Amino acid sequence: MKDRIKVITEEALKEIGACRAGEDTVEALRVKYLGRKGIITELFKQIGSVPAEDKPEIGKLINILKESVTRSLDEKSLLVPSAEEKAPPIDVTLPGESGHIGRIHPITRTIDEINSLFVSLGFRIVEGPEIETEHYNFETLNIPLEHPSRDAFDTFYVSFEKKTLLRSHTSPVQTRFMEKNRPPFAIVVPGRVFRPDATDASHSFMFHQVEGLVVGQDIKFSDLKGTLTTFARQMFGKEVRMRFRPSFFPFTEPSAEVDISCIVCGGKAGEKRCSMCGGKGWLEIMGAGMVNPKVFEAVGYNPEKVTGFAFGMGVERIAILKYGINDIRLFFENDLRFLRQF
Ligand code: PHE
Repeated sequence: MKDRIKVITEEALKEIGACRAGEDTVEALRVKYLGRKGIITELFKQIGSVPAEDKPEIGKLINILKESVTRSLDEKSLLVPSAEEKAPPIDVTLPGESGHIGRIHPITRTIDEINSLFVSLGFRIVEGPEIETEHYNFETLNIPLEHPSRDAFDTFYVSFEKKTLLRSHTSPVQTRFMEKNRPPFAIVVPGRVFRPDATDASHSFMFHQVEGLVVGQDIKFSDLKGTLTTFARQMFGKEVRMRFRPSFFPFTEPSAEVDISCIVCGGKAGEKRCSMCGGKGWLEIMGAGMVNPKVFEAVGYNPEKVTGFAFGMGVERIAILKYGINDIRLFFENDLRFLRQF
């Protein structure tokens, strides 16, 4: 019996030593030796037939065997298999997989560029709410009740009772800011605006504007021209020429539409085939003007003491001209083939 125990001990430890950590064979060996019908369990059962005086010693030997087998098996199953034992072989010559890094959307990029250009001229960036009231979107800006933009079909109303709507331009931030601040100041206001236009290559029900407002003593139309000319040359190139066409906005007086010379044909009017300006030689980039005294009155400023200018540009329009894009919908369709080009 003693010899058998010795042989079994040697065999068991050899077998356990040979199997790999973490593999099923560890559990198979546990069953083989320690299971209900296992070799060691059987040994215990045979103690009955051993002469009485040998029983304590045999029992002790079997216990020692059981302990060392249990310990070796536990060690094997606890060991974390080495990478070599577990992982499939790696082909180190394969090209690596690079992670995907996102990029800035062309509209965000254009807004950032416009903002930093004006910041370098001393402007501050200010934002306002996208859900506006009739009061700020229209009334403080001298837009009368009969103005077409106040028609329910020309504005997304949120609530008729509360007179709330999705702002149709960023101009309401002009009067919101003036109510809380005293001149002199120069601000730009980037943000989303909404109009119920049918979507096509040049219209979207949601787009972005950057508004500008400068108020102080003795601010003149020439300051407006100088500021916007500096902006356009930095944005589109030094050779760009400017044109200020008389226009009308209720909140500025006088008002102008601002054009730049065509960045594709260089403004050679009559170049009928120009894909950008269609022969006009000019591209409209924004509306602008001197702040209407009525707007100053609406916010409690004295129009005898302060003057100012304001402008508002469409960001999509600027990006379309700058990057030569032919359809506004591309900005909002999330087509990666388009977005990856920026
Ligand atoms: N708010 C005008 C628009 O959306 C643009 C504008 C802003 C014009 C400021 C003049 C001065 O069309």
